[in-house]
Amino acid sequence: MYAVRVGTPWDLAAVGYLEEWVPRFVPYHADLIRELAIAEGASVLVTSAGPGSEVIAAARTVGPNGRVRATDASPEMIRICKEDVDRAALLTPVTCAVADASDTTGAPWDEIICAFGLWQLEDRAQVLSAWASALSPNGKVGILTWGPPDNEDPSQVLAECLQELEPSVPFRQHRINAERDRMAQMWKAAGLSMVRHTIVRHTLNFERAELFVRAMSHAGTWRKVFEDIGQVRMDRVAARFYERMGGPEEALSFQPAATISIAALPGAEVVLHHRPSTSVPVA
Ligand SMILES: C[S@@+](CC[C@H](N)C(=O)[O-])C[C@H]1O[C@@H](n2cnc3c(N)ncnc32)[C@H](O)[C@@H]1O
Repeated sequence: MYAVRVGTPWDLAAVGYLEEWVPRFVPYHADLIRELAIAEGASVLVTSAGPGSEVIAAARTVGPNGRVRATDASPEMIRICKEDVDRAALLTPVTCAVADASDTTGAPWDEIICAFGLWQLEDRAQVLSAWASALSPNGKVGILTWGPPDNEDPSQVLAECLQELEPSVPFRQHRINAERDRMAQMWKAAGLSMVRHTIVRHTLNFERAELFVRAMSHAGTWRKVFEDIGQVRMDRVAARFYERMGGPEEALSFQPAATISIAALPGAEVVLHHRPSTSVPVA
């Protein structure tokens, strides 16, 4: 039996998150699905699925002989996810359920996926152990998480502006330590072995810096900050951010790093995306 929070900050953020962020995250989701080399017919548990862009990608990959279960703690996210899955008219059986990330109902799973969700899990060690126990013998866990950090990243700059002007406001970075060694330790503690650790980047464009700030107000963590401090104080934080960025009208283009980390049961025989060899240019 798992406790599921009804009415999470993500419920309120859901529609804005879908419009502002998901289209920008799709290339990262595609990287995760490709790196995992998910087999046709596989069973896939997608945890912290949010509105489910990676759910649909996984379902298309496994086809009609596979199965996918998408879970998220936010009922609103799951409502949107289910709507999108229905609209996609997939041949794959897909179930969408409100559940904590530790819920592995339907095990064994050939693949357990978590995109941009690990940083939110207070009981991360327990959740990872639950995933390890729910894997099929040659199954894999694949996570996608922001980092390593970059000081020039606008979300980092916005967080610094908040800290400078509102030092008492509690703020949680949406990032965990994704260094290779830390990830390997994390997996080991859960009874898993890391088999691949990859950093990927895609370009995120915002026509104007103020559109970036607006988009941030739809992400779960920042939405709470906007609500807690109110419009006037948040406008001051935004003004400081615009100073650092060259003005509210300035276009922003950046390539945030995300880490894909894949683990499996010790001794398992796993299939991963094949990376062909390449010629190294002469310097
Ligand atoms: C940044 S969103 C990522 C959504 C989606 N995977 C994506 O990449 O677009 C984080 C999601 O984690 C969910 N979440 C937070 N804590 C959770 C928990 N303990 N169990 C399940 N889902 C959780 C939130 O509701 C939210 O939908």
